[in-house]
Amino acid sequence: MALLPIITAPDPRLRKTSQPVQTIDDSVHTLMADMLETMYAAPGVGLSAIQVGVAQRIVVIDTAKDPDPPAPLRLINPEIIWRAEEAGPFEEGCLSFPDQFEEVERSAAVHVQYLDASGESRVIEAEGLQAIALQHEIDHLDGVLLVDHVSTIKRNIIMRRMKKLQRMQAAE
Ligand code: NI
Repeated sequence: MALLPIITAPDPRLRKTSQPVQTIDDSVHTLMADMLETMYAAPGVGLSAIQVGVAQRIVVIDTAKDPDPPAPLRLINPEIIWRAEEAGPFEEGCLSFPDQFEEVERSAAVHVQYLDASGESRVIEAEGLQAIALQHEIDHLDGVLLVDHVSTIKRNIIMRRMKKLQRMQAAE
């Protein structure tokens, strides 16, 4: 396994629409293992393939909390097939926006259809943090980011901070 570099905003690759996975081969399995390792190391509760530069519809999530054992989810071509009308704000972060946290309004529960690592079609019924993480990561597959869910004023502030961070890193 390997740690992968995480792309941060305002990198234009984060705005790409990811393509469906056609064949679940060893390269997909390796990518998912590396994505999980990268997510745990960050640490984070979700990561999409585009955040490590791969424009394929792949997401990994683990919202298990200590002291519960890890519960990694590997989702290929995930799709939201149902969402609760009920919604609520939740403070979200994103590994592509280091140290930025914003309240985002999302459905309180979702059902997501996906292919598992062996290509089996499955449906997960999620609520709470898992439902939030699924909606956030599936957004990434369509180039939609955390900042698209906040006001223009907040978005501009965050994007300015990200550009400053980028300049500082470039100067190092
Ligand atoms: Ni994110």
